[in-house]
Amino acid sequence: MFFGSDNQTGASDKVLANIATANNGHTHGYGDDDWTKRAHRLINETFECDARVFFVASGTAANSLALSCLVRPWETILSHHEAHVIIDESTAPEFFTGGARQISITNTAGKIDAKHLQRFLNQAGTDVPHNAKPAAVTLAQVNELGLVYQPDDLSRLKEVSQQHKLSIHMDGARFANAVSATQISPAKLTWQSGIDVLSLGATKCGCLAAEAVVFFDHALAEDFEHRRKRSGHLLSKGRLLASQFIAWLEDDHWLKLAAHANSQATRLAGALEKNPEIRLAWPCEANEIFAIMPKHTEQRLKKSGAEFYRWYSHGLPAHESLNDTEVLVRLVTSFNTQAEEVNEFIEVAAPR
Ligand SMILES: Cc1ncc(COP(=O)(O)O)c(C=O)c1O
Repeated sequence: MFFGSDNQTGASDKVLANIATANNGHTHGYGDDDWTKRAHRLINETFECDARVFFVASGTAANSLALSCLVRPWETILSHHEAHVIIDESTAPEFFTGGARQISITNTAGKIDAKHLQRFLNQAGTDVPHNAKPAAVTLAQVNELGLVYQPDDLSRLKEVSQQHKLSIHMDGARFANAVSATQISPAKLTWQSGIDVLSLGATKCGCLAAEAVVFFDHALAEDFEHRRKRSGHLLSKGRLLASQFIAWLEDDHWLKLAAHANSQATRLAGALEKNPEIRLAWPCEANEIFAIMPKHTEQRLKKSGAEFYRWYSHGLPAHESLNDTEVLVRLVTSFNTQAEEVNEFIEVAAPR
């Protein structure tokens, strides 16, 4: 029963087979090859635009390199206080941006919204050069509490961002799950709603290690290839990354994988909601569940071999409402979650 992360499984068979195919023969290195061109084309078709696309092998590299194109060292990056970039990427964004400051905006609603952003920006210091200058907003889609930003949420954030000349970056580590959950087009969930650059994560949803930084605004991409090379993230056998994206995007494979993950999460969340000892901290909108359960249930699940993490949503209502006998846990399903694992989890979690 693996519910710790969607990283706990491997890659889909189709993706692996395409890596093996790309492995045959010879091509030029460093992304100067037909596989890479085809993968770029496919991403542009998927997003119905003409974006500049760059591949890297980890989400942290994708996010940090993308952000380094949006802010200068004396500027700030704004995010939700639970954001992966601020909590789980060490100081990589600071390192890659040359020291730009990350600032978290607390929002008890779970997502950054335009009102909070506006309030923060109204109060942000404007004493130049003494105060650091806000220059970018970053948000995750699906976000770190399993919530999905709707196009209206994004458009409102864009309106405020534009007034203050901020760019918007989307951490799409679970973008496939968001598209599948909303049935809204990738274009509408990104550039048509004001996103300037996307880290399109494929690793969690069926690839081995493949992330694309997708610049909808070409001007922002100007220095990206220098930054990627300088940081050691330009892979010489670029076709091995490209072949993953090709298999992933062709025939909507990515959306089928995400739909499976989401449907297992919906089923699990539905059953846990019926359990009188368990309540959900946030609605399950994609493939993550945040459940408040008794410590004894957590222990029983762990003893039965279930993998999952305790979660600490500090400052958020879910965490504040815990009593001493309860814990908040995060459960994540993947493209490879088996129906039997979900059944077993539900069964072991049932009150005794
Ligand atoms: C929201 C979010 N962003 C990005 C990442 C990617 O991080 P990594 O550098 O581990 O690939 C993750 C992985 O856990 C994530 O949950």
